[in-house]
Amino acid sequence: MLTQMRFDILTIFPDYFGAPLSCGLLGKAIAAGKVSVGVHDLRGWAEGPHRQVDDTPYGGGPGMVMKPEPIWKAIDAIRQDGGTRPLVVLLSPQGDVFEHRRARAYLESGRLLLICGRYEGVDHRIAEHVVDETLSIGDYVLAGGEAAALVVIEAVARLLPGVVGNPASVDEESFATGLLDYPQYTRPPEFRGWRVPDTLLSGDHAQIDAWRRAQAKALTQRKRPDLLERIRG
Ligand code: ADE
Repeated sequence: MLTQMRFDILTIFPDYFGAPLSCGLLGKAIAAGKVSVGVHDLRGWAEGPHRQVDDTPYGGGPGMVMKPEPIWKAIDAIRQDGGTRPLVVLLSPQGDVFEHRRARAYLESGRLLLICGRYEGVDHRIAEHVVDETLSIGDYVLAGGEAAALVVIEAVARLLPGVVGNPASVDEESFATGLLDYPQYTRPPEFRGWRVPDTLLSGDHAQIDAWRRAQAKALTQRKRPDLLERIRG
């Protein structure tokens, strides 16, 4: 089991990542040296006085396409640097959809290089010949891959031992078990007339476990029957 994880991000907006990488569990994991993140400005590998990273699409159409040369050079340079060879992932709505299983696989790789596309996308030769995989975080289109890169980093980093204080929370939560998580409640026992289920106040742990399992199953059946299908295989 790996105890450290390295992420590299290739972006035209390096400033985007300041606050998210310094807050909460992720900020703590970075400060503790469990997670390290290198943010690389793609323009550093672009040529010409304007350090141009995009160009008009062949065949016409709206918008701009990211040029292959700066991305290739950047990947080549970042790969050489820092020991472990990274798994190179291009973020794009055209990719495989991200889920828990893939977050686990990324953790096992030890090092990820996340390429953030912008504009109408990246020259397809990068997806076809350069990156290891293309990844989408869901069926919607973002302005660029930066927010998606943060989603991946957060989902993977919290699987590292010691990043989440209580390891049971990682093992028991939605998707790790294959089911959606059961509902949680805290004090007060009654709020605006809405009561916490009696079982949770009973102190009977066997009964509480059974209630939670039943709730998780019923919720999954109602909202994500596809997950149950998968468990039944
Ligand atoms: N870039 C734009 N939309 C995206 C998505 N849904 N997932 C990953 N990268 C993206």
